[in-house]
Amino acid sequence: MTKKYLVFNWKMSPSSAEEALELLEVIKEAISQEARPSNPFSKIIVLPPCLYLYLMNQIINADKVLAKKITLGAQDVFWHNRWAVTGGISPKMLKNAGARYVLIGHSERQQYFKETAYMINQKIKAALVNNLIPIICVGEKEKRDVDSFLVKKCIFEQLNNNLAGIKLNAGDTFIIAYEPIWAISSHNQGQGQPESLDDINKMIGLIRFWVARRFSENIASKMPILYGGSVTGANINLFAQSSVADGVLVGRASTKKQELKKIFQKLKRTNKKFT
Ligand code: 13P
Repeated sequence: MTKKYLVFNWKMSPSSAEEALELLEVIKEAISQEARPSNPFSKIIVLPPCLYLYLMNQIINADKVLAKKITLGAQDVFWHNRWAVTGGISPKMLKNAGARYVLIGHSERQQYFKETAYMINQKIKAALVNNLIPIICVGEKEKRDVDSFLVKKCIFEQLNNNLAGIKLNAGDTFIIAYEPIWAISSHNQGQGQPESLDDINKMIGLIRFWVARRFSENIASKMPILYGGSVTGANINLFAQSSVADGVLVGRASTKKQELKKIFQKLKRTNKKFT
């Protein structure tokens, strides 16, 4: 897999549609300046708050540069299209507003909304039925030795429970993000450190092994498995050069204009090394 995913999870930022468009402008400027199409992160997926999806989709579709490079997704979804669910957003609504991807099972949804494995499982099924591509999050709560039995048990349990009863065909796109909860910047007052590349590679290998056993080796070899947790402009190059992570899921740094610029500037420099 040569082309990588750069996924921006804006969480509950920014506070207005105008600011969301300013962030989009930063991305547009960066991708218009790309000297050649060799950026290792060729797929840029933006997951804004769903309030801005429709507007952002209109702007992206009206702009050739943006439309070619950016795809939109949502940060959550309910698991029915028609039901009395106050505040719920259905898969159909997301699709009609322009989302192609949906993030499911983020640890913050579990922390603040008490999402259970059953709910995550229902959401994944609903996304697949409605042709939304799921990006599902798994990750351990506390920093431990990644070779320890406890870490493996924790990740396998999440995968077993969240993907219970789910069938995938060889052509289906399905993305897993390995996101250790302890590495998320908000758990560290915005000053988090990503997990070491060695440990990330081990964990991604472990997840791919699980996918091969649960689905097939063919599906496992093609499934994008990303890393998330304190990815910034300062360390993005590590992931651009990793042959194991198929991309990154960036939170905080993708919501700050300067940090976002830095991410693309660093990638531009990486490109030179790649030529
Ligand atoms: P940070 O990049 O802020 O650590 O957030 C990671 C994350 O939660 C992305 O989903």
